[in-house]
Amino acid sequence: MITAKNIHKYYDDLHVLNNVNLAIEKSEIISIVGASGAGKTTLLQILGTLDFAAKNKNSSLKINDIEVYHLNKNELAAFRNKHIGFIFQFHQLLPEFTALENICIPAYINKTEKSVAEKRAVELLSFLGLEHRKNHKPSELSGGEQQRVAVARALINNPEIILADEPSGNLDSESAENLHQLFFKLREEFGQTFVIVTHNKDLANMADRKLTMVDGSIV
Ligand SMILES: Nc1ncnc2c1ncn2[C@@H]1O[C@H](COP(=O)(O)OP(=O)(O)OP(=O)(O)O)[C@@H](O)[C@H]1O
Ligand SMILES: [Mg+2]
Repeated sequence: MITAKNIHKYYDDLHVLNNVNLAIEKSEIISIVGASGAGKTTLLQILGTLDFAAKNKNSSLKINDIEVYHLNKNELAAFRNKHIGFIFQFHQLLPEFTALENICIPAYINKTEKSVAEKRAVELLSFLGLEHRKNHKPSELSGGEQQRVAVARALINNPEIILADEPSGNLDSESAENLHQLFFKLREEFGQTFVIVTHNKDLANMADRKLTMVDGSIV
């Protein structure tokens, strides 16, 4: 599902990613742990094509058998929107829009008809136990509810891959636990592949595979 080879990344003198190689199967749940500054977010952003590895003739990133570095900018943006869902530490919902509207945005970018997008959004909201909050804005929702809305937004286009960076970092332990259970429920229900960067030991250990990063390498 995701194959990364010889991934390097530099910020000036800093060798942030040092020869990362990774193969992730469909429907696997992978956790990535490691000290602050180890390069976890950088790697996740590169896997999600939001950032790019250093140009290197040996490096390759294949997602769904597509060599993403061969896509042009517009093709890549469309590919990302369709195949990859992102969940961030801070939900990054748009404050002016309701839960329902926030969830629908990636679908609109994907040119999905409004009625179709809204129907799917409502299904997701009810799956997440949030249907009754659909017309509320993020500021009117609890942290755990906001994060579940962000999960629904990540799922609206039925991406095969979900990338999450500290998804429960800002939740109390009960909401965090619920969110973690939800990831496994989603995998069971929809078969998605998850790559989750986390400092949460429970979540890291629940994963099928736990990868540890040290100084830009997977050890
Ligand atoms: N845009 C940037 N410019 C320069 N250095 C950067 C940039 N982004 C990240 N870094 C550096 O790259 C290293 C890896 O950062 P990264 O955000 O990937 O770490 P992380 O493992 O996600 O850490 P944390 O657990 O604190 O989120 C750090 O030393 C960081 O300071
Ligand atoms: Mg980080």
